[in-house]
Amino acid sequence: CKRDKMNDLIPVVNKLQDVFNSIGSDTIDLPQIIVVGSQSSGKSSVLENIVQRDFLPRGNGIVTRRPLVLQLVNITDFDDENSEEYGEFLHSPNKKSPIHLKIRSSKVLNLTLVDLPGLTKIPVGDQPTDIEKQTRNLILDYINKPNSLILAVSPANVDLVNSESLKLAKQVDPEGKRTIGVLTKLDLMDAGTNALEVLTGRVLPLKLGFIGVVNRSQQDITSSKPMDEALKSELDFFKNHPAYKNIASRCGTPFLAKTLNNILMNHIRERLPEMKARINSLITQTHQELLSYGDPTLEEKADRGIVILKILTKFSADYISSIDGTILDVST
Ligand code: GDP
Ligand code: NA
Ligand code: MG
Repeated sequence: CKRDKMNDLIPVVNKLQDVFNSIGSDTIDLPQIIVVGSQSSGKSSVLENIVQRDFLPRGNGIVTRRPLVLQLVNITDFDDENSEEYGEFLHSPNKKSPIHLKIRSSKVLNLTLVDLPGLTKIPVGDQPTDIEKQTRNLILDYINKPNSLILAVSPANVDLVNSESLKLAKQVDPEGKRTIGVLTKLDLMDAGTNALEVLTGRVLPLKLGFIGVVNRSQQDITSSKPMDEALKSELDFFKNHPAYKNIASRCGTPFLAKTLNNILMNHIRERLPEMKARINSLITQTHQELLSYGDPTLEEKADRGIVILKILTKFSADYISSIDGTILDVST
């Protein structure tokens, strides 16, 4: 039932963006989610799990040499022949620019996710000798933006003090306000060890916390294990693990996705007063123009503004309050 509530959010937020688009105003400025981590730490796997689709270059030793900007675009079900989901590459193939992939689907929230190349210490193949510095600067460019939410991925089978992603995140977000620690490969830790201390925030403080996940292994990928089966195994792993069973509801991919949704919701809520003020002044302005010219097309514009204001008001009054309950209740 909570999942359904979360899915309700998608059409509401997208409707808001539609009405803003229709009057030529800025859309809701949603944060970009940037995934950072060393090579093979599981960045692409984490992103895929969030999007619930597998299409990213993934695997041991495979280096995503360029940033991949995933633009998720919501389309409504009744959008005639365009209603089929599809992906579209927007970059120029021969340029060394980021790869832009646009996914149009009725099941996604309008949102941008960025998959960055992993940090490599040693150049391989035709990589330049300063590859590490180049990658580091590229990552810093992305995560420096105050509106970016940093998913700092660290593999659980490597000591956390060596985590490159957390070191980088700390440079741009020293108070840990917009960094989520994601601990991957919990299934690959040495027998007898566990990451409970990290996951419960007793090792490194991050305001948004650490979330443990178990992604598909290379073997799972090779044998084409379906994503829903992988999610089921992940759930079983946490529920049955002696160290994690008590915190199982705060572990795993669905909890990570839910946390991201809540963060996005809070962001929208913070922006609401500003959006309402903007619409109010737009209405006043249009009414004044209308009075001075008696232009009938302006009347239409003003009516539209009022409709939008009504939607926004309803959105903040009913919807946000219903979401509040979800944000507080993270127990299931
Ligand atoms: P990236 O280089 O950071 O994007 O990492 P990938 O997502 O490509 O993952 C690198 C390799 O680690 C792949 O073979 C994945 O199957 C594997 N992998 C990623 N996460 C996990 C995990 O949680 N558990 C296990 N067993 N393997 C994982
Ligand atoms: Na890392
Ligand atoms: Mg990758």
